[in-house]
Amino acid sequence: MADQKVVAAGSGERVGRPGDPCIMVIFGAAGDLTRRKLIPALYNLAKHDLLSREFAIVGVARNEMSTDDFRKKMSDDIKQFATTQSVDPDIWEWFERRLYYLTGEFTDKTLFTKLNDLLQKLDKDHATHGNYFYYMATAADFFGMIVENLAEVGLMNDEGGHWRRVIVEKPFGHDLESAVALNAQLLKVVRENQIYRIDHYLGKETVQNILALRFANGIFEPIWNRRYIDHVQISVGETVGVEGRGGYYDNSGALRDMMPNHIMQLISLTAMEPPISFEANAVRDEQAKVLHAIQPPTGEEVLTKTIRGQYGDGESGGQRVPGYRNEPSVAPDSRTETFVAMKVAIDNWRWAGVPFYLRTGKRMAARNTHVVIQFRRAPLILFRDTPVDSMMPNQLVLHIQPEEGISLRFAAKVPGPVMRLGSVDMDFQYADYFGVQPSTGYERLLHDCMVGDATLFQRADMVEAGWSIVNPLLDVWKALPPRNFPNYAAGTWGPKEADDLLEKDGRRWRDFEK
Ligand code: BG6
Repeated sequence: MADQKVVAAGSGERVGRPGDPCIMVIFGAAGDLTRRKLIPALYNLAKHDLLSREFAIVGVARNEMSTDDFRKKMSDDIKQFATTQSVDPDIWEWFERRLYYLTGEFTDKTLFTKLNDLLQKLDKDHATHGNYFYYMATAADFFGMIVENLAEVGLMNDEGGHWRRVIVEKPFGHDLESAVALNAQLLKVVRENQIYRIDHYLGKETVQNILALRFANGIFEPIWNRRYIDHVQISVGETVGVEGRGGYYDNSGALRDMMPNHIMQLISLTAMEPPISFEANAVRDEQAKVLHAIQPPTGEEVLTKTIRGQYGDGESGGQRVPGYRNEPSVAPDSRTETFVAMKVAIDNWRWAGVPFYLRTGKRMAARNTHVVIQFRRAPLILFRDTPVDSMMPNQLVLHIQPEEGISLRFAAKVPGPVMRLGSVDMDFQYADYFGVQPSTGYERLLHDCMVGDATLFQRADMVEAGWSIVNPLLDVWKALPPRNFPNYAAGTWGPKEADDLLEKDGRRWRDFEK
């Protein structure tokens, strides 16, 4: 992680050097990601002087549009999607003049020759030193082909003092085999260090803060292991349904959509060994090691240690909402899961015998992502002759969203003449200390790519390790279609079986904060 990425305490300002002079090419620029996230993130970078003055963007998509149309569209959209209340007209004017657009089909090789010509011209106009990076904001089927086509016309060639990089969005494959194939296809024409596999969870401050919490403080690491920790829970609850993405989601499902990527990031940061430095490969080596130590479930374990669910009709945000099977572009008899819970084991010295319980679902009762570290109970001896009949375990909770912070739950005496215990929370809220700096979550990752820092991006081996863990579920679930879908009502906490998964181990999920 670049040493210049220092957050000035209390100011909310990020201090850092601007990205290198470069051109960003966005494939799929007419889509939602560009207007909702990428352009607002780049605008924020420009505002904080983290974008080089020598910069340009080329949008590429099949939609017929001129550069003027594209500029106009982005200028309209930024008003809606900027994370700041108003858009600074001077900064936007500077930014808008750097937007260009090229229409074409990604399958058409002449598109890439035209792109090459355009980039050479813009490179001179904007003094971008031949540095280009390509953002794959297209359907996943195009990723491999686009990179091959770029390489064929020399646009991935980074010899001669300039750099060429490619940012690949998720989904990175749809199972282990296709992820391995995609890696192989890319690595035939580019080197691993040119590939930036993005996972937007790593753009979240609170996710990055897991590293700071663990390794910048002396008090946590000594107890961060099987001697003191009873179990870990990672929950990602969403209140939204499939938000008009039924076509994609019905072929994906909650497992593919969230587990091998976002949730594996949370596990690897929570469970990894301290890296020897914050250099990209030092951090990623440790993440990869811990992912490899997670035992993929056997067929039998898929039946006993994993739960799938699909929401039916229910209520969300005080309104009746349809069940998953009635969502647009979803098959009326769909067997796609919208909820998944699983128990995994990490087979290494630090974590042997400490279960990790994972769950994620759509249309749940609350939007909440948290990592719960539950410590072992204190022995009861001291309280034996008092009305205290059980000791509450301590929980350290990393609140990822929507609240951002850390809380520690511990037992305290309830005031009064008898010894009773109550649970209290010691709370740290990000906003109280550092203020809120509205961002899209993409700023950091785009900037990292522009300065060549790959720490927060996935390496080929990490992506494949993530898929290895979920692949047995895909196989068993395919062979044994669910019979009880839908099995939870929209606006609830998911299927009852997910609660049973912990109850049979004498544990329970921490409630989502409403
Ligand atoms: C995306 C998934 O990668 O992450 C979506 O495809 C999901 O289905 C989203 O809603 C969650 O991201 P966030 O940042 O809202 O937690």
